[in-house]
This record gives sequence, C-alpha cells and structure tokens, in this order.
Amino acid sequence: MPVTEKNGKYYPPEEFSKNAWIKSYEQYQEIYKRSVEDPEGFWAEVASEFFWYKKWDKVLSYNFDITKGKVFHEWFTGGKTNVCYNAIDRHLDTPLRNKAAIIWQGEPEEDTKILTYLTLHREVCRFANVLKKKGLKKGDRVSIYLPMVWQLPVVMLACARIGCPHSVVFGGFSAEALGHRVIESESKLLITIDQSLRNGRAFDLKVSADEAIKDAPACQSVIVVKRTGAPCPMTPGRDTWYEDEMKADDIADFCECEQMDAEDVLYLLYTSGSTGKPKGQVHTTAGYMIYTALTHKWIFDIQPETLFWCMADIGWVTGHSYIVYAPLVNGTTTFIYEGTPLWPKPDRAWELIDRYKINVCYTAPTAIRAMSRQGDEWPNKHPMSSLKLLGTVGEPINPEAWQWYHKNVGKGNCPIVDTWWQTETGGILITPLPGAWPTKPGAATFPFPGCVPRVADPGVDDETKRGAKLEAGKTGHLCIEKPWPGLSRTIYGDHDRWEQTYFSQYPGMYFTGDGCLVDADGYHFLQGRVDDVINISGHRISTAEVESALVLHKAVAEAAAAGMPDEIKGQGIYVFVTLKLGIEPSDALKKELIAHVRKEIGAIATPDKLQFAPALPKTRSGKIMRRILRKIAENKPEDLGDVSTLEDSAVIQNLVANRI
Ligand code: PRX
Repeated sequence: MPVTEKNGKYYPPEEFSKNAWIKSYEQYQEIYKRSVEDPEGFWAEVASEFFWYKKWDKVLSYNFDITKGKVFHEWFTGGKTNVCYNAIDRHLDTPLRNKAAIIWQGEPEEDTKILTYLTLHREVCRFANVLKKKGLKKGDRVSIYLPMVWQLPVVMLACARIGCPHSVVFGGFSAEALGHRVIESESKLLITIDQSLRNGRAFDLKVSADEAIKDAPACQSVIVVKRTGAPCPMTPGRDTWYEDEMKADDIADFCECEQMDAEDVLYLLYTSGSTGKPKGQVHTTAGYMIYTALTHKWIFDIQPETLFWCMADIGWVTGHSYIVYAPLVNGTTTFIYEGTPLWPKPDRAWELIDRYKINVCYTAPTAIRAMSRQGDEWPNKHPMSSLKLLGTVGEPINPEAWQWYHKNVGKGNCPIVDTWWQTETGGILITPLPGAWPTKPGAATFPFPGCVPRVADPGVDDETKRGAKLEAGKTGHLCIEKPWPGLSRTIYGDHDRWEQTYFSQYPGMYFTGDGCLVDADGYHFLQGRVDDVINISGHRISTAEVESALVLHKAVAEAAAAGMPDEIKGQGIYVFVTLKLGIEPSDALKKELIAHVRKEIGAIATPDKLQFAPALPKTRSGKIMRRILRKIAENKPEDLGDVSTLEDSAVIQNLVANRI
C-alpha cells in the first residue's frame, strides 16, 4: 500500500498504522502528555520492562539551571543493572536464543557471519574473560579502533559486561586523532585490527594505532583482530591477536556480568564542539539503555521479524545506539555491512536489501545524495519489496533527496522518519512516529515522548526576549527544557565545560547548537548549526580543530575555517590561511597544507578550498570576524553588509576579490 500525499503531507499506509506501536496522533498525544506531566511515572513504567539486579530508589533528580548551582541529571538512582545482560542474556531463556542477533556481510562477497543470541553470548563472554586476563577491572577504559567488522559489537558488549567504559574511535580518524583520544581517556588497552577494507583497498590500521599510542604510557596492551592477514608490526609483550586470545585454554565460555549502578559509565564517545579538541561525551548505563531501546522500538516500529539496517559506522553515536545497543536490547536482528554503499557497484546497498530482505533502512542525507547522483537506474533494478520504513539522520535533508529516497528506494510505499538528535542526546529526540502522523519533507516533525523542545529567541533584536519561545514560522535556537534519560551526563574530566557548552546560553535549558523553526502545524524543521561546528556528511568537525591543525604547520601564521555549501556532503570546509612572513603562497604549499590537516585529523576534515590571505579580518578586540569569513566561504559577498567603515575593509576586499 502506498504512502499518500495530500497538500504536501505524506500519510502512512493505513495497514502500516494499524499494525504500528503508535497508531495515531491521538495515541501519541496521550503518551506525550503523560511523559511530560509525570516523567517519573512514565519512565519508571518503561524501565520496568528491562532486567534489573535491583530496582531503583528514585527515578529522577536534576538541576538544569546553572544560576542555581551545579547542573546535573541522574536517573534510576540506586538501581543496578547491566546493558550487556539486557542485550544478550535476557533473551537466552526465550525463543530469541537461536534468532540471529547480528547478520554481518563483509565487503568481499564470501565473507559473512551470523551470530545468534546464543553464539554472541559465548563470543562476548570469552572476550570479557580475555579482558579480565589482561588485568582490566570495572571502571578501566578501553579504546577501540576498528572498522565495521563483526568483532566490533562483540568487544563493545564485552566491555559493557565487565563494566569497562569503551571509547570507540572511528576507523577513518588519523593516528593523531586516535592518540589524543587514547591519552585523554587514559585507556589501559586498545583493540584494533591489522587492516581495514574499504572500496577494495586495504588500510594499515595497526600501523596508525602504533603511532597513536607511542605517547600513551597508560595503554599497556593491544589486541589485534586479524582481517586480511597481511604482515603487520606486533610489539612483543604488548600486542596479541584476538584470535589467539580467544582460543586460549584458560578462557571460559561464561563470564558473570558486573552489577552496574544505573549511573555507572557505559561509554565515552569523542565529538567536536565549537572550540578546542574533541571532548568525550559520557553516557551511563540505565538511562541510555532505556532511552535508546524505546526510541528504536517506536520510531522504527520494530516487530519481532524486523531486519534492521542502520548504515552508519559504529564509530559514531548512530552506530552505538542504533546498530549495537538498542537493536540487541530489543532482541532485533541488526544487519552490519563492512563496506560502503556504492562499491563495487552503485547498487551495492539495494542489492543487499533485496538479498537479505531488509525491512528498515536508516541512513544519512549525504549518502542518499551520493547514491542518487549515480542515477535512478540503480535502485530501479531492485524491487526492494521487503522494505517497510526508511530513516534519515545527521543533517537536514533537502526536499530533492527526500523525494528521491521516497520514490526510488521506498517505491512510494515506505514512510520516512527524519530523526533529529546528537551525540550528546544519546538517542533520537525529534522525529516522526511513522504510523501516527503524516510527514513533510525536511521536517523532523514532533518531539519524542519525554522531550520538551523550545525554539528560543536568540535575543539579537531585543536582549530582553532572549530565551523566550518564538512564534511559528520564526527561526531560533533549539533548546530542550527538561531532562530525558539519554542525555550525556558530562564531558569526561571536564564537567565545567559540559555546563558551559550546553547550559550557560539559556539558563534552565539544554542548548543544542542547532537552529530550528516550527511551522503553523507544529512541525519542527531543523536548520543546521548556529555555532562553529561544520557538519560534513553528517559528521561534526569544529572550525577550531581545523585551525589548530593548520597552525601546527611551520609555514602558517594564522588560519580560519568556515563551512561552505556542498552538494553531496551538505557542507565542506573552506580555510583561510595567512603565511608566516617571508613564505610565499604556491600551489604546492596549498596541497601540502590540505594534506597536513588530513593527516592531523583524518580524511573527513580534508579542506575543500584553501585561500591564502595576507591578513584576516578582526574586530577591535582582535577576534576573527567569522561571520564575514562564513559569507565569503558561502560565496555570498553581497551579504557582508556595509564593511567600508571597518578598520579592516581593505583586508575584506582582498578576501572577496580572491575568493575561490
Ligand atoms: O546539526 C544537527 C545535525 O547533526 C548534529 C549532531 O551531530 P552528531 O553529534 O555527530 O550526531 C549525528 C547523528 C545523531 C546536530 O546538532 N543533525 C542530526 N540529525 C539531524 C540533524 N540536522 C537536521 N536534521 C536531522 N535529522
């Protein structure tokens, strides 16, 4: 049955709504009302469906108002549980025990692996015992630098089982970026791989890992997964193979779960903010588990037979929450693909959907745009009749990409959920519930139960209005008024910064850093970042990170970075560089500087354009005038306003005249 369109709204098929968890807007309204009027009662009811060693004493304590003291929120205080137990052991006494938990498809066709809940249990227990044998104890951090191999969820779950917070670092990050994260988290152990495979090429991850940890004395052991078997440097006494560790005679098939406090740390995940180096968001046990599981179940309408494919990389929060934790906690089969959707042919993703009969496909607008550019003939070769629902995440979706996805992938039959959230939020906050109301292309629609959004007046025209709720149709800063269980608890080792970043702009509320408008029907339309974060293919890079990388180069005196529009990636990076006195700009130096940023941070941070500038425009107090640089990067020099009176007008004219 098709999705039907009326006046720009796309209605779910009747049959879909009839069978959905949330069937109507009225049902949602009832649940939503309860969730905000009685959050403790609502979340306690949700939490009761999970396994607890000991139930909580108090559901929620919090202070969101920085003017009244320390900002914090705490959920299910006094409760004891374990996420790994909920994701695996809990299912073993049910018919789920022999169901596929993970279906993994490698990039080479013949590499596949299916782990049932029972076989996953054995693998996870054994690896948890390996970690214990290495001397790891509850609270010790473990860094994980792995591509999309099936061992990645195994090692994450093993960490959760014994209470070791993991810090997964995306396999595309550079040695420098990994090194920073291993050192900052004081990880005792690193899990990596000989090589990763991508688009038919092999990348030496172990070589990068070695370089990364040369200045990380706390990291005493490295466990290496064997993927390609290519020769790979191994440091005796420090490095061992995953496969050898797992088959050792003294490794038992069972490992008891650690009883974790509800607020014990589950994992750290580093993400870029608007200043400085990436910071570790801290997610804890019970609240994160419950929030991600409930959002997954209702938003993706998870049924017992659903085969769920989230195309993100596990190295990002989307993969943590919706490839690993939520699907397994919900007893779902999660599909994991090692490669990229366009290789070896542009219909790789569509072919996998048909072959495995995937029911839900969750991806990013950037991937949709890249796939659509290959032409309609690729999806049109595949009926994809198993698909019931499509999802997007990571950045605003442009209407053309939305329509393409709807028509060519969903074949007009699948509702689309445009899900808005962040690394900090743990799970999805603003989203359609697919059977309950019609969507509009580009709208994340309404808040999930428990979430109270406010489009706040930034107070530009009238400071006294700052923070007030804006009327429909006006763009403001998206804030969230009340806590929800998935929100990060702090920045690892820097609570002050967590408070300052998220709670100081609009006291009493969580500030998201995103622009948003609500239309006359109450639909939320996200408008992108309002701070110095650039969103490249749905991934965050701060201008400050790119700038710090550039000034490390001996030729650079000063640098500024800004986002520029990019048809596929959403945004690209435009950098302005002032060279040290006596150094001449050249094409060779330009290339060298671009490669330098790539080496320092990773391929996603590769600048798209680099402009040499004799000077950068500054305010009288010496701050770089970012607004102006942004307009130049966006190729909108006509929007600079009148700059003739500025001290720096000659500098600006030079920048405009030489823009790329
Ligand atoms: O700007 C928003 C954008 O991605 C940012 C969060 O990035 P990250 O922490 O890397 O997490 C990405 C995946 C959860 C947000 O501040 N964003 C995410 N989803 C959407 C979005 N922008 C518009 N629409 C979305 N659906």
